[in-house]
Amino acid sequence: MKHLLSVTDLDRETANGLLDEAERFEQALLGREVKKLPTLRGRTVMTVFFENSTRTRVSFEVAGKWMSADVINVSASSSSVSKGESLRDTALTLHAAGADALIVRHPASGAAHQIARWFNEMDEASSGYAGPGPAIINAGDGTHEHPTQALLDALTLRQRLGDLEGKRVVLVGDILHSRVARSNAFLLSTLGAEVVLVSPRTLLPVGVEAWPVRVSDSLDAELPGADAVMMLRVQAERMNGGFFPSAREYSIRYGLSERRMKMLDDHAVVLHPGPMLRGMEIGFSVADSPKAAVLQQVNNGVHMRMAVLFRLLVGTDEVVA
Ligand code: CP
Repeated sequence: MKHLLSVTDLDRETANGLLDEAERFEQALLGREVKKLPTLRGRTVMTVFFENSTRTRVSFEVAGKWMSADVINVSASSSSVSKGESLRDTALTLHAAGADALIVRHPASGAAHQIARWFNEMDEASSGYAGPGPAIINAGDGTHEHPTQALLDALTLRQRLGDLEGKRVVLVGDILHSRVARSNAFLLSTLGAEVVLVSPRTLLPVGVEAWPVRVSDSLDAELPGADAVMMLRVQAERMNGGFFPSAREYSIRYGLSERRMKMLDDHAVVLHPGPMLRGMEIGFSVADSPKAAVLQQVNNGVHMRMAVLFRLLVGTDEVVA
């Protein structure tokens, strides 16, 4: 595996292997006062974020540091991007400065793929100034994909529910703008789960018929019997000022309220990738209830990203402890 750009590049064995590897990292660090493995000593990992982030950027930084990599954070606003430097020149510059891996978040769908393509072309021509190109990790590209989020969600579901084969997972809300929804729909399906989308029709993407999912209009109808429900953030920043239905209507029809949570089976788990809009897509107390796995997701995110960095930069199945 050279890059991690899309969950559609992962077959079931590879995906499960990454989940297993994340759990091995968790075990390797369990109970340690000093959380430091020598695994990536001498490697340089750069996060390059053109959009804001709390969870993804921080957990990649922690993951890299816990594996002894040198981690450099580059934000677009404080880089020469603000002076007009192109994405290609930025990526080439960071590699020439020593990056072994570039972790990229960008508002344009396909940005990480494009960067990987530029480096792959350079590899073929053997013209890379700093040798073979870096591993590219897609940390969220526009409305397209967020592969490491889907992996950490799958890990959380597996820990709560066991094998995902035949489990029913309901994704709720703004599917149209959610890279988390797309990555989860495809990865969970690869892992054998049944995926149901509940969304206003105005917030469903064109072409959703080709996704491995069932679409439903009624959250109330889908909650009983669901093994998991994943609430999605309403991404107002991608809606150009227009939002239909209204926030109030959305909350009434698609919000996971206290009343609705009671419709879930006892074993069912509630996920949210964050950041949460409490009171709109998820009730205040629902988000803090024992059914909610929101902070478990964040914690798993660190181990999952350790596994991804390890797989791309070292490539074997052995955790060096
Ligand atoms: N889930 C997620 O991607 O959160 P951040 O935007 O905070 O990274």
